[in-house]
Amino acid sequence: MESLTKINIPGVKKTYQGKVRDLYKIDAEHMLIVSTDRVSAFDHVFPNGIPGKGVILNKISNIWFKNINFVKNHIVETDFSNFPKPFSQYPELLKDRAVIVRKTKRIDFECVARGYIIGSGWKDYKSTGSICGIPLPEGLKLAQKLESPLFTPASKEDTGHDMNVTVDVLRKKLGEEITNYLGEITLRIYEFGRDALDSAGIILADTKFEFGFIDNEVILIDEILTPDSSRFWDKSLYEPGTSPVSFDKQFIRDYLETTTWDKASPPPDLPDDIVKKTGEKYEEILRRIESIFA
Ligand SMILES: Nc1ncnc2c1ncn2[C@@H]1O[C@H](COP(=O)(O)OP(=O)(O)OP(=O)(O)O)[C@@H](O)[C@H]1O
Ligand SMILES: [Mg+2]
Repeated sequence: MESLTKINIPGVKKTYQGKVRDLYKIDAEHMLIVSTDRVSAFDHVFPNGIPGKGVILNKISNIWFKNINFVKNHIVETDFSNFPKPFSQYPELLKDRAVIVRKTKRIDFECVARGYIIGSGWKDYKSTGSICGIPLPEGLKLAQKLESPLFTPASKEDTGHDMNVTVDVLRKKLGEEITNYLGEITLRIYEFGRDALDSAGIILADTKFEFGFIDNEVILIDEILTPDSSRFWDKSLYEPGTSPVSFDKQFIRDYLETTTWDKASPPPDLPDDIVKKTGEKYEEILRRIESIFA
C-alpha cells in the first residue's frame, strides 16, 4: 500500500493544510476534513507517511463521535456515498478518510486531560512540583497514575510547541462559565474513553480535545481519542517508574531520540521498519477500539 501524504482534489482549493489533515470548504457552514497518511513528531511532518494511517485515524474518531452522546460534536456526514460533487468523484482519495463537519470558530486552547504523569506533565512536575499550576504530591514516579484525572489546558501556538497554561489563563480569555464547562466535559470524555479502553487492555494515559463555537454553543471538533491525540499504553506491560510500552506515536519519538536529527532541521525519512511497525500499532489500536463497540 502506498501512503497518501499529498492529496489534491482537482479544481477545489484547500482552505487549510494542517500537519495531518486537509480542509476544504463545502459551504458557509460546512467543511470537508481529510485525514492524510502524514505523520508528525516534535512538530515536524516527515517526508514519508504511514500507509493507511489517515483511514485508521478517521475510523477511530468516528467510532467515538458516534458513541459519545453527552457532548455535541461537529460531525455531519461520515459516509462517502453521501458526499456531494466534486468530492464524490474521488473515492480513491477520500473514501474512509474524510468527513463532512460543521465549521466552528475554534477555541485556541487544547483541552488536555491527564490520568497519568508523563511527557510535558512529568517535565513540569520535575521542575516545579506542579502541572499547569496544580500542585501535586511529592515523590510521584514517571508514568504513575494520578489520584484523579487533571484538566491541564495548553494554548495553541502557531509556531512551534503548544504551551501548558493555568486554568486562570482560560478564565481570563473565555470567562468562568465556558472554562468550567470545558474542564468538566474534558474530564468526562477522558473518563468515558479511559473506561472503554480499559476493557480492551489499554490505559488511556492522557489525551487532548479541541472545541469550537457555533454561535454560543460549544462543539467538540477535530479528532478524538486517537493514537495521534492520546497516549495509549499496553495495560499488561504497565509498570510505574518505567517508560510505558505504547500503541501511539511514542514509538516514533523514541526512534527519533536514537538518531542524530536535531528536531530543528528538515526531518529525515522514517526508515521502512519504523513505518511498518507504526502502521501495525495503529491497526492494532483500531482493532481493539472496534472490538469495544462491536
Ligand atoms: N469543526 C471544526 N471547525 C473548525 N476548525 C476545525 C474543526 N475541526 C478541526 N478543525 C481544525 O482543523 C485543523 C486540522 O488539521 P490538523 O489536525 O492536521 O492541524 P494541526 O497541524 O494539528 O494544526 P493546529 O495546530 O492548527 O491544530 C486543526 O487546525 C483543527 O483545529
Ligand atoms: Mg491537529
